[in-house]
Amino acid sequence: MVKIHFTTSGKEIEVPEESNILRTSLRYNCGLPNHCGGGVCGTCVFKIEEGAEFLDKVKIQERRKLGEEWLKRGYRLGCQAFVENGDVKISWNEEVTKSVKKKKKTGSP
Ligand code: FES
Repeated sequence: MVKIHFTTSGKEIEVPEESNILRTSLRYNCGLPNHCGGGVCGTCVFKIEEGAEFLDKVKIQERRKLGEEWLKRGYRLGCQAFVENGDVKISWNEEVTKSVKKKKKTGSP
């Protein structure tokens, strides 16, 4: 089991390895914003505070929606990211969510 700490809502949930971030948030009411569930809208963007190395590989949808710049700054999409074999700490904020949602899928920040 691994822990996902949703710092913005103050919840810490223990889940099996290979759990999806957004699914966990929905199941345990952890409050990560979401909309499409398919890597398109960008609503579920979050920042990795700790444990980036324990998330699975960046998906093509995340590259398209976030672009290299945001990925480099530690952002991922909750509906696309899975926690693998260690604890992670994540956060999100309204301003970031808004700008990611507005972003065109070009890869530029
Ligand atoms: S919920 Fe739309 S991109 Fe994740």
